[in-house]
Amino acid sequence: MKLAPSILSADFANLERDIKLVEKLGADYIHVDVMDGQFVPNITLGPNVVSAIRPVTKLPLDVHLMIVQPENYIEAFAKAGADIITVHEESTPHIHRAVQMIKASGVKAGVVINPGTPLSAIEYVLDLVDQVLIMTVNPGFGGQSFIESSLDKIAQLKEWKESKGYTYDIEVDGGIVPETAKRCKEAGANVFVAGSYIYNAESPKNQIDSLRAVLD
Ligand code: DX5
Ligand code: ZN
Repeated sequence: MKLAPSILSADFANLERDIKLVEKLGADYIHVDVMDGQFVPNITLGPNVVSAIRPVTKLPLDVHLMIVQPENYIEAFAKAGADIITVHEESTPHIHRAVQMIKASGVKAGVVINPGTPLSAIEYVLDLVDQVLIMTVNPGFGGQSFIESSLDKIAQLKEWKESKGYTYDIEVDGGIVPETAKRCKEAGANVFVAGSYIYNAESPKNQIDSLRAVLD
């Protein structure tokens, strides 16, 4: 089971400190939320911030693009040092091409769907991707509540993975706390993004330990 702290809830004036903190506490990925104020109603960061944080950690950078026309920025994020780039099916009419472009840029490719989008929207890229991200909240902000219907999608993805021999990881993002992490794990998820639960707390160590306790 992999844990991917989201720096959306970190202190942006102290990103290096906050990334090194979770690396030391045993995180597996650093989850980087890229928002453009168009696809989602919030703005965060671009490739320049990804290149700035690249040298401060050995952990893979798991870059979640919540932007329109993601094809235009894939190369820039790959060059900036992303290890995994995940694109929203809803953000492009050409999700298959976007996934191909990510793979051609030499990094791992992920696809993601919003809570209101059915799994069928990504059925025909499942053989290509390294990771499928199921949004367990509507994207845009940290600190929202987990949406229950996500669990059915996770279970179906796991069933397809086994019956069709796919190799993708199943990642969940939004409202992840020990109780929801446990249920996502039981449904079949194996990569867990958590932002506010880890960073908006007195002791990020206690938070990571309590997530690990239900995951391992
Ligand atoms: C939401 C982002 C998430 C966010 C999760 O749009 O994709 O990665 O950081 O935040 P929490 O864990 O607080 O729900
Ligand atoms: Zn995210």
